[in-house]
Amino acid sequence: MNLFTVIAPIYNMLFPKMQERHGKQLVSKLSPLEGSKVLDLGGGTGKIASQMMASGADVWLLDSSPQMVRQAQSVLPADRVVLGDALSIPFMENAFDIITVVDVFHHIRKQKDVLKECHRVLKPYGLICFLEFNPDCFSIRVLAGIERLLGEPSLFLTPGDLALMLEDAGFQEIEADPVSCEYLILAKKPEVLEV
Ligand SMILES: C[S@@+](CC[C@H](N)C(=O)[O-])C[C@H]1O[C@@H](n2cnc3c(N)ncnc32)[C@H](O)[C@@H]1O
Repeated sequence: MNLFTVIAPIYNMLFPKMQERHGKQLVSKLSPLEGSKVLDLGGGTGKIASQMMASGADVWLLDSSPQMVRQAQSVLPADRVVLGDALSIPFMENAFDIITVVDVFHHIRKQKDVLKECHRVLKPYGLICFLEFNPDCFSIRVLAGIERLLGEPSLFLTPGDLALMLEDAGFQEIEADPVSCEYLILAKKPEVLEV
């Protein structure tokens, strides 16, 4: 059974401060958000998407857990919450100005394939923004061990490794902003794909 199937009903009670902090970090990094079409990939219960919406963004949330999606439907308009896999994002190419990926990427096994999908659905000059945890920190390696016991892949990447993966997937202007054991990475889809 998937971890999020089990913890969905209590997820917001487990991590309220972290969700609030992550939402603020994103809004401050990505502002002004007014009118931007944002995809919150693996958006879970919708807390972070709600904060971006309150800042004027036009937000869609995609998540593969029906239980997390059900929670999100109680805080976001129903047509903005989509059940689906990041490996096959159910949107047309060049659909979004921004993709946010908060505390999600280490839960994904086929990370390179997901980056290809993100590249496809982002508009040229669109931004992808990750908030992740740095496995250079001992506490994050402990967290990875616990998550693996619970059946998660827990493929935590260092900021340097994620930056390289983004570059390989065709993103440019990659900026990493480490804060203690967490980091934010921002990257841009260029107008023309380099071959
Ligand atoms: C730790 S939660 C983070 C939720 C939200 N981003 C937040 O920060 O509150 C990770 C989320 O990623 C979702 N997820 C994991 N793998 C996914 C995939 N392949 N496609 C879409 N969502 C995925 C899970 O269902 C879960 O809701």
